[in-house]
Amino acid sequence: MTKEEIIGWGAEALLIRSGEILKKRRIKKGYRHNALDVLLRASRTRREARLLEKASGIISVPRIRAIDGMPRERIEPETEIEMEFVDGKVLSQWLDEFPLTKALTICKKIGANVAKLHDFDIIHGDLTTSNMILKQEQVYFIDFGLGFHSARAEDKAVDLHLLREALEAKHFKHGHEYFGAVIEGYKISKNARKVIERLKKVEHRGRYKGKA
Ligand SMILES: Nc1ncnc2c1ncn2[C@@H]1O[C@H](COP(=O)(O)OP(=O)(O)O)[C@@H](O)[C@H]1O
Ligand SMILES: [Mg+2]
Repeated sequence: MTKEEIIGWGAEALLIRSGEILKKRRIKKGYRHNALDVLLRASRTRREARLLEKASGIISVPRIRAIDGMPRERIEPETEIEMEFVDGKVLSQWLDEFPLTKALTICKKIGANVAKLHDFDIIHGDLTTSNMILKQEQVYFIDFGLGFHSARAEDKAVDLHLLREALEAKHFKHGHEYFGAVIEGYKISKNARKVIERLKKVEHRGRYKGKA
């Protein structure tokens, strides 16, 4: 049997690698009421699995193998996704290690990925470089637990805005240029102009928030 190894213990999930397989297990939060806790974990798991499934036809994402394998106990609905382990470089750790031209090429690919998802009305909801893995020059997106469907330019603009904030916080040295490249890549979207216009409004609003 392949050995199991805990590779991460995120805010709400335990990540367990077993060879080519990665299990994302949403674990109980002590402070939440039990029944509510189970429902929340199950609904986020289902949402993530559905969005991963849908996104797999559009961009690179880990392939899903099983959702909870089999329904085990009726009182514990699905709270675990079994997916492909993407054996690559998590961009939060790696982006700044590359020469700037390579990093910018990657950012352009990130922008193109976001555009493709948005053109299918998928909002990722948590676009940070810790949710992106580079493997064979492809950028895989993971962690769709906060994702949702929407056709609204506002939701798409906010998705991009959160990515800008994440880049500027985590990769402050080149965050500004990185986001410029993201926007370059995003221009393949059929709604690029509208969403980029909206992004300006979102950011203007942000700057004046609390200063009125
Ligand atoms: N399919 C995968 N392949 C490789 N690494 C993964 C995969 N899924 C998650 N990881 C690693 O685990 C970390 C946390 O996983 P993630 O799905 O983002 O959970 P969380 O909701 O806790 O942020 C990621 O940043 C990444 O390093
Ligand atoms: Mg994550």
